[in-house]
Amino acid sequence: MFSETLIKKFEQIETPFYFYDVQLLQKTLETVKNASEKYNFSVHYALKANSNNRILELIQKNGFGADCVSGNEVLKALENGFSPSKIAFAGVGKTDKEIKIGLNSGIFSFNCESIPEIEVINQIAHKEGKLAKIAIRINPNVDSKTHKHITTGLSENKFGVNYEDLPELLKIIKPLKNIQLVGIHFHIGSQITNLSVFKDLCIRINEIQDIFVAQQTEIEHVNVGGGLGISYENPDEDATARFEEYFKIFADNLKLKPRQTVHFELGRSIIAQSGSLISKVLYVKKGNSKNFLILDAGMNDLIRPALYQAFHKIESLTSDKQDSVYDIVGPVCESSDVFVKDFKLPEAQRGDLVAIRSAGAYGEVMASAYNLKDFAKAYYSDILQ
Ligand code: LLP
Repeated sequence: MFSETLIKKFEQIETPFYFYDVQLLQKTLETVKNASEKYNFSVHYALKANSNNRILELIQKNGFGADCVSGNEVLKALENGFSPSKIAFAGVGKTDKEIKIGLNSGIFSFNCESIPEIEVINQIAHKEGKLAKIAIRINPNVDSKTHKHITTGLSENKFGVNYEDLPELLKIIKPLKNIQLVGIHFHIGSQITNLSVFKDLCIRINEIQDIFVAQQTEIEHVNVGGGLGISYENPDEDATARFEEYFKIFADNLKLKPRQTVHFELGRSIIAQSGSLISKVLYVKKGNSKNFLILDAGMNDLIRPALYQAFHKIESLTSDKQDSVYDIVGPVCESSDVFVKDFKLPEAQRGDLVAIRSAGAYGEVMASAYNLKDFAKAYYSDILQ
């Protein structure tokens, strides 16, 4: 992925920094577009995965919609040219201010997670003289078989309303004048690599659709959320997620009602493999039983390994010596600031550059100034080359 010329350029830049492969992103976007258009599916990019302007601009230009989880994300999507009619606004705790932003922008739908939330949206919409289009987020109680911190579709999770409560909910919201129910929304988790769980989701959605039919309530759209996983182990061989297979599962298994449209909210699978965190080896430290590589990037730049014990492949860019085994760690004063333990990497010395791969999603957006560290800057392949 990194040519010698590029690595020479990297050597001139202050580390750590994020590097985005714009060509790979464009290729991924084309794959998603072709695979989804085949079935007339609409894809909304989940801004929470990465909301850099350059990335958003490119995604928007390729015709995608947006999935936002805060008022600021809605504003950011609008600033970057996303059409309001393609913006879904989700989130379990929308503030009054955020609801107003959504109402005044005329978004595609508010994905609502509770009766009190729908009542508040109705009140605010009434005051603003607007009609709020809403989708109900339903907890399908489908196990996404992913990491416990990123599974969301089980009844024990805080998200959505339980489908058993739907008849009651429909009764309560029917008289609300400033609400228009247009959709149903689901999201069962993230980094899902066992694609058969999406078939389980489809089967559950079909059952749930029957509840709406029984209540004589028409639904215009079905939003199945995001969650398609990527390969953290082989970012080069498997640079593109299994989009074709993924969309086909929904095409084959969803039983749609006439004129219903299907929507997706993909984040990670679109942007993860295009980003790497480039870092420099500060010190090689020999311990009693271990050797440590201490990098200038840490959990403040990429928190996924510390927070979820997530694996990111690390690659040496400047050493071609024999492999050695290292615990690769960051400089932050926390024992959890570890990228990977017992990892084989060509023997390194102070000043060597490494790439922490698959960091385009939930990397830069989750960075913090912990320990008062500077935020890593972002560079893009089309400008650097
Ligand atoms: N829609 C909803 C309602 C979501 O909650 C999410 C992600 C997405 C769509 C996008 O999911 P994706 O296609 O990216 O899987 N910070 C964690 C991931 C948290 C995901 C939160 N929700 C991580 O670094 O693994």
